[in-house]
Amino acid sequence: MATNSESQKPSYETFQLFSSNDENNNSGFGFFDAPKTPSVPLPPCTEVLSSEVSSSVKHSMESVNLDGITLLKGRVKTQDVFGLSNSDLVPGKYEGGLKLWEGSLDLVKALNSDIKHGVISFVGKRVLEVGCGHGLPGIFALQEGAVAVHFQDFNGEVLRCLTIPNLNANLSKESRLSSSEIAICEKADVRFYAGDWSEIDGLFPHVSNDMKDLGSSSGQNQVVGYDFILMAETVYSINSLQSLYTLIKKCLSYPDGVVYMAAKKYYFGVGGGSRRFLSIVEKDGVMISNLVAEIADGSSNVREIWKLSFK
Ligand SMILES: C[S@@+](CC[C@H](N)C(=O)[O-])C[C@H]1O[C@@H](n2cnc3c(N)ncnc32)[C@H](O)[C@@H]1O
Repeated sequence: MATNSESQKPSYETFQLFSSNDENNNSGFGFFDAPKTPSVPLPPCTEVLSSEVSSSVKHSMESVNLDGITLLKGRVKTQDVFGLSNSDLVPGKYEGGLKLWEGSLDLVKALNSDIKHGVISFVGKRVLEVGCGHGLPGIFALQEGAVAVHFQDFNGEVLRCLTIPNLNANLSKESRLSSSEIAICEKADVRFYAGDWSEIDGLFPHVSNDMKDLGSSSGQNQVVGYDFILMAETVYSINSLQSLYTLIKKCLSYPDGVVYMAAKKYYFGVGGGSRRFLSIVEKDGVMISNLVAEIADGSSNVREIWKLSFK
């Protein structure tokens, strides 16, 4: 999978989460070495309705080309939404969803490749995009025939100002959708949820209370849950890895659900990364993981796509 060359204007922001040039010093390693409990209370988990789309925050739309797929993405200023300038994130307040990170583009490409090779199909499937930000993988799943796509982000503002406008922009590009695709999009159940991974599962419609522990015999007969969970650039913070994994286990359909994860192998300086997350998965012993793709573009930070499923 190729990335944009230096000479081209990038259609996404490169991963700068841990850059040292943040003038406010609001992002960077120090936060991730902080104690586990955030100093600010978590925002309440809420469902955000598509009608709650923000009309006050300005955004411009641009197209992103991914191996023959063209998707639209909005560009909004973090300053306009959160009053933060030049901040990739402020843990516990803003978790980076306004940027389009490289991993979500890798993920769309990997999904497209697996569809083309007959490995997967989204037709008729229920999909959850965790840590969606722009939501391009979820939007792609919808265009590929998913019957339900639920988007989750830490921040409701991201959903209102970016994810919902992105979805609307992509779905209204009717010229590139066939009539059957339009029909699927109209029929699909599309929802948006804001909140922390440690608490959000209570809101998801496809998760029943009986799925609390899918590894137990009580959970194994449930035919509920999401057929696919998609996530990109969600495993950077060590503090959130366990709650993310617990959420996945609660939400993934047993026994056939599949997780696609795009992530850096290692997030320098903070210790998170795909391998750290997978060590939690392996220790738990309930799921298996397979490497789908490795993207080594010469930068020192190798990106990966992993697939997880129940044993
Ligand atoms: C680096 S951004 C990636 C956004 C998008 N997936 C992409 O690749 O462009 C990390 C995403 O994970 C979500 N996130 C991070 N920590 C979270 C937490 N503890 N609970 C809920 N969501 C969280 C953020 O809201 C954000 O959307």
